[in-house]
Amino acid sequence: MTKFINNWSSSDFEIHMRELLGQTTKVEEFKIAGDGNMNFTYRLKFEDKNSVIIKQSPPYCARFPDIPAPEDRIISEFKYYELATKDEYLAKHSPELLGLDKEQKIAYISDLGTATDFEYLYAQEEKVDKETCHKLVRYLVSLHKLGMPTSKEFDNLDMRKLNHEYIFELPFLAKDNAIDLDAVTPGLASAAQDIKNDVVLRAASIELGELYFQKTRTLIHGDYYPMSWIKTEKGLFIIDPEFAFFGLPEIDLGVFLAHMVLSNNFEVALNAVKEIYGPCDFQLVAKFCAVEVIRRITYVSQLPLVNNLAFKKDLLTRSSITLKTGEIENYENIDHHAS
Ligand SMILES: Nc1ncnc2c1ncn2[C@@H]1O[C@H](COP(=O)(O)OP(=O)(O)OP(=O)(O)O)[C@@H](O)[C@H]1O
Ligand SMILES: [Mg+2]
Repeated sequence: MTKFINNWSSSDFEIHMRELLGQTTKVEEFKIAGDGNMNFTYRLKFEDKNSVIIKQSPPYCARFPDIPAPEDRIISEFKYYELATKDEYLAKHSPELLGLDKEQKIAYISDLGTATDFEYLYAQEEKVDKETCHKLVRYLVSLHKLGMPTSKEFDNLDMRKLNHEYIFELPFLAKDNAIDLDAVTPGLASAAQDIKNDVVLRAASIELGELYFQKTRTLIHGDYYPMSWIKTEKGLFIIDPEFAFFGLPEIDLGVFLAHMVLSNNFEVALNAVKEIYGPCDFQLVAKFCAVEVIRRITYVSQLPLVNNLAFKKDLLTRSSITLKTGEIENYENIDHHAS
């Protein structure tokens, strides 16, 4: 049976690094690098006080081994960084690639140091500042305008199929008990059932889901939300591009705005997009935003949102209209719901 890195010893890491990277330093310590579900992500500390991040994608979800997951996702992640870091701004906001073991699905990337992500935004105790918001949009500007060589393809199809199910299909099934929503927020199950029973809404989601598979020549991150943005002593970095592919840029913008809606930072984020991003299909952005808001409230990929039924119901009502109409303005003036 294959031994994944969660069962490796210091000497297993040392042997692997010697073979792959030609590096002979002694591993003094290895620890989980930070919160994550999908992969094994460790920080290796060496005798000389340097450190690296090692990330492995097993053929299942690291935290939930019963759930299968496409094992080449680390290769997609690596490919994204290789393509994106051709641009100076993107390189400045990405970790460095140090080595890839395609067989064992292991990547070594530079350690950005002790980092915090932006999960705290969901608590609505602190607003995202305008400067950070601008940087986040500026990153997407650089990413989406990058020309991709005609020789390159980037489908990441297995990861996309997985995401497609969880975003566009499963949250809209009338009969589905994947999650006990009343245990999350009393009263939420009935609000979610209204969404699930809405056949027009389901049709809108299916139609949008087809666009998720549209081929383009634009590299997109594919999971542009607060857990992929990290703050370090060296500034803001964007990580975890395992869902990347050549697709519609409106997907990144929609997901970005969805999480700004969920954390009640919509206005500042929309203004940043309008000021910096330039032309895009706002109706499509609005629809991708809406579908993401819906699935984050009603389906299994839950977030530490403010646990307030009125807030969640308000966002569901707004999102179900927006998914049908593409009107982004529906998200203006959301009440503040600090926990
Ligand atoms: N290069 C890095 N430098 C410093 N810390 C890192 C680095 N890469 C990852 N981390 C830390 O490890 C955590 C998990 O990493 P990452 O998000 O890449 O893993 P994941 O398993 O893909 O997560 P998820 O299940 O959310 O997709 C990050 O939130 C961050 O705290
Ligand atoms: Mg990930």
